[in-house]
Amino acid sequence: MKNVIFIAPPAAGKGTQSTKLESLGYVHVSTGDMLREEIAKKTELGLLVDSIISKGNFVSDEIVFELITNKLSSINKPFILDGFPRTIKQAEMLEDLLRKLNSTDYEVIYLDLSCDEAIKRALGRLTCTKCGASYNKYYEALQPIQEGICDKCGHVLETRSDDNEESFKIRFDNYLTNTEPIKDFYDKKGKLHVIDATQDSNDITKQIKNICID
Ligand code: AP5
Ligand code: MG
Repeated sequence: MKNVIFIAPPAAGKGTQSTKLESLGYVHVSTGDMLREEIAKKTELGLLVDSIISKGNFVSDEIVFELITNKLSSINKPFILDGFPRTIKQAEMLEDLLRKLNSTDYEVIYLDLSCDEAIKRALGRLTCTKCGASYNKYYEALQPIQEGICDKCGHVLETRSDDNEESFKIRFDNYLTNTEPIKDFYDKKGKLHVIDATQDSNDITKQIKNICID
């Protein structure tokens, strides 16, 4: 089983795919989830990053790298990186870290999605803050059985603070400027696999499994 690194626009399905792959024995490492946890707990870091994230801007490379270093140093299983790296600097820092941890066996999955489709997914997303399950009001197959309630744990579903049109545009612009260039970085290493993210999510999972597991 190879480690998985997702590179993708906002709302392309990184979290959805990571959750599906977790049941196969992967540890899901999401910098967005880790930062939102800090915000929910109102820690010093949470208070610092709250408005940065709500507005759709990036947190500093140093902050996210520290989170990633602590997490990857504490696990001894194959992992999925969801939301890191997001800048060339982060990709370089990650290369050093993976060498130190002897975890260089990875593949990079690029989930390809247009801005129009991504914004529809972001604005339709509903999240359970209790168990983390994700739904979407614009896709029939992804709607909860009872409107506004999590199928898995019965908690009320919420909209993320950065899932509004204004923040999404900033997130997408940041992605184009800072994250898309990383594709080249990994392509040159022969690690990049592009998957059409408009497909059904089970079909996407199958393709990722073919690349990283079979
Ligand atoms: P993060 O939480 O990572 O947000 P993001 O990158 O914008 O990605 P999302 O979580 O919005 O989308 P996703 O790709 O996980 O899609 P999902 O599966 O939910 O980061 C948040 C913020 O934290 C950043 O903006 C930044 O401020 C900060 N941050 C994090 N990491 C950082 C870093 N490394 N450096 C600096 N700052 C950092 O799917 C979306 C919706 O689509 C859902 O409703 C889902 O049900 C639906 N869906 C999924 N797959 C499909 C499908 N195949 N067909 C139809 N609908 C689908
Ligand atoms: Mg996510």
